Order: sequence, then structure tokens, then C-alpha cells
Amino acid sequence: MTGPRNYGYTDTLEAEHYATALHADIHDGLTSTPKSTAPTWFYDARGSELFEQITQLPEYPLWRAELGLLQCHATDIAARTGARSLVELGSGSSTKTKLIIEALGPAGLRYIPVDVSADALHQASTQLVQDYPGINLHALRADFTAPLVLPELPAHGSRLIAFLGSTLGNFRRSTRVPFLRGLRDIMRPEDFLLIGADLVKDKHEEEMISAYDDSQGITAEFDKNLLHVLNRELDADFDADAFDHVSVWNSAESHIEMRLRSRVEQRVKIRGLDLAVPFGPGEEWITERSAKFTTDGLRGEMAGAGLRTDQLWADSDAGFALILATAP
Ligand code: SAH
Ligand code: AVI
Repeated sequence: MTGPRNYGYTDTLEAEHYATALHADIHDGLTSTPKSTAPTWFYDARGSELFEQITQLPEYPLWRAELGLLQCHATDIAARTGARSLVELGSGSSTKTKLIIEALGPAGLRYIPVDVSADALHQASTQLVQDYPGINLHALRADFTAPLVLPELPAHGSRLIAFLGSTLGNFRRSTRVPFLRGLRDIMRPEDFLLIGADLVKDKHEEEMISAYDDSQGITAEFDKNLLHVLNRELDADFDADAFDHVSVWNSAESHIEMRLRSRVEQRVKIRGLDLAVPFGPGEEWITERSAKFTTDGLRGEMAGAGLRTDQLWADSDAGFALILATAP
């Protein structure tokens, strides 16, 4: 980003911090069995752009399902919360968030998009301040899995924390409730949490699988973008053509796994970690988990984190839910 900005910006992931987290996750993930790494690393400029393309794929209806629910209920969300501050985790392009911003009233609204992707934050923020000149926007580049240090928020009035896109599903089951509890701990009694979650489509396994393995190969490119990120950031020598992208439904865990399957026996050098990683032929590395929820399961996870579900809007045809909760 060069030139003046007309929004605030704080980067808590300066090079050293980002590198430390990346090194630790990739080292641990590629030396464990099965190999498994965090989905956070997909999102450089190219990864964010590929995700935007995914949202438009016919095989990936969940993004549009959430958009539809927000079109129906943003006014109600605004009326129930009366929020004058909006903090959004994993905000990406903030496209759907515009519906919430417009319902809350952009003039004077404090909006804090939080994302690891500097490019996504800058693109979205530049557009938002242009569309809503009265908005009070401060973008925060941060890892939402770490404790959040938010830029200043108005002391009075309710705050809404939004976590859309079913990104909650990218957490492993065992870490979801502790993560939600962390959010609960920064909420005051007058604050709200809005979560978007994709629902399990029983008997439609094929559709869930193809949502993560589309016919145009965009999701495969998104998955393999991880290899390009690791080559650049960790001086590795992954050959993207030596891996296939696969999408698998894990019914025991109720999640889709995106995996990179090694086509051959190979040894990949990751010089930045001083590590050589062996892959057997056909060996699979889990690069992302995307949980699919039930509405009862969601309510249960919220309750387990000390959150009270005030409202749940579900589109049972599209299989998506929005949940609005408070921290009593
Ligand atoms: N909420 C948007 C984007 C979803 S994609 C939508 O629904 O369209 C997930 C977003 O979360 C990406 O923009 C990605 O950069 C961000 N992200 C992934 N892991 C993150 C992390 N650990 N901390 C902060 N942001 C993260
Ligand atoms: C951001 N996240 C919720 C998306 C998902 O559905 O798990 C990322 C994605 N991965 C492949 N396609 C989309």
C-alpha cells in the first residue's frame, strides 16, 4: 500500500510475528502424521483473489446462501443490536458486510475489519470509505486465533462482532468452543455476536464435496496457492504439479477436508525451516477443514462458550444459518 489512506490501519502481524507463527505451524504440521496445517496461510493477495472467485462458483452455494439471509434479516439484526460499532473477524472483501453496515447506518459507524490478508483489508477499506464517506473505519491486520487487541471503540453503545462465511467451521471441533469463549470474554452484556455457519446436508455428500472441488479447478488452485506461499515465505521447493487437490467428506467429524495428495514419492526442501519433508506416493496432507453444523450443535457450542442464542435464522433449503448471541 502506497499513498495516503483515509482510514486507520494497524498491522499486528509485522514480518517477524507472521514468520514465527508460520514457521511453527508449518514445521509442526508437516512433521506430524497425518500432515496437517492451518488454512490461514492460503490468504496472500492471490489467495484472497481466488477465494473471491470461489464465492461465485455454482458449486459453492454457501456464500450466496449467507448473502440471502443477510438480505432478509440485516434490518432485524440492526434493530435488535442497535450497534454503533462493528468488528468483523476474517472480513475478506467485506462484500456481505455492506448489508449490515447499511442497516446499522454507515454515518459515524465504527467499523473494524480484522483479517490476516493485508491486500483484502486495503481493497475492502478503500472501497468502503469511498462508498460510505461518513464511516469511521480502522482496519486491523491480525490473527483472530490469538487474543485480539482492538483499536479504540466508543465506550458507550452496543458492539456487534461478526464472524461470517462459515469461517468458524475452519476451526477444529476441539478449538471452537475455546475460541468462542475468548470472544465472549471481550463482550459486555450489551454486545452481540453474529455468526454465519454452513449446515450439514445429510444425503447430499456429493454436493458438499464438489463445493470444495469445482469443475473449473479454482478451488484446486486456491489449495495449491499454499505451496506458492511456502515457496516464497520459507524458501521451499514445492512443485505444484507434483500434488493433486482432493476434497473428502469426514462424516465422523462432520467436516470437509481439503487435501493435497502427493503424486509421487518426493522429498521437499524447506530451507527457511532447515527441514526436508518426505512424502510417500499418494500421501495426503490436510490443508483445511470446513465443518458443517446442525442448528442444535451450533446452539450447544454457543452455550458451551457461555453465549446465549437470541436468534437463529436458518435457510433450510440452502442449508445455512445465522446466529445472533449475547454474553449474559
Ligand atoms: N468473511 C468473508 C471472507 C471469508 S474467507 C466472506 O464471508 O466472504 C476467510 C477470511 O478469513 C479470509 O479473508 C482470510 O484472509 C481470513 N483469515 C483466515 N485465517 C485468519 C486468521 N487466522 N486470522 C485473521 N483472518 C484470517
Ligand atoms: C473461508 N472458509 C469458510 C471457506 C470454507 O468454505 O471453508 C474457505 C474455502 N475453502 C475452499 N473453498 C472455500
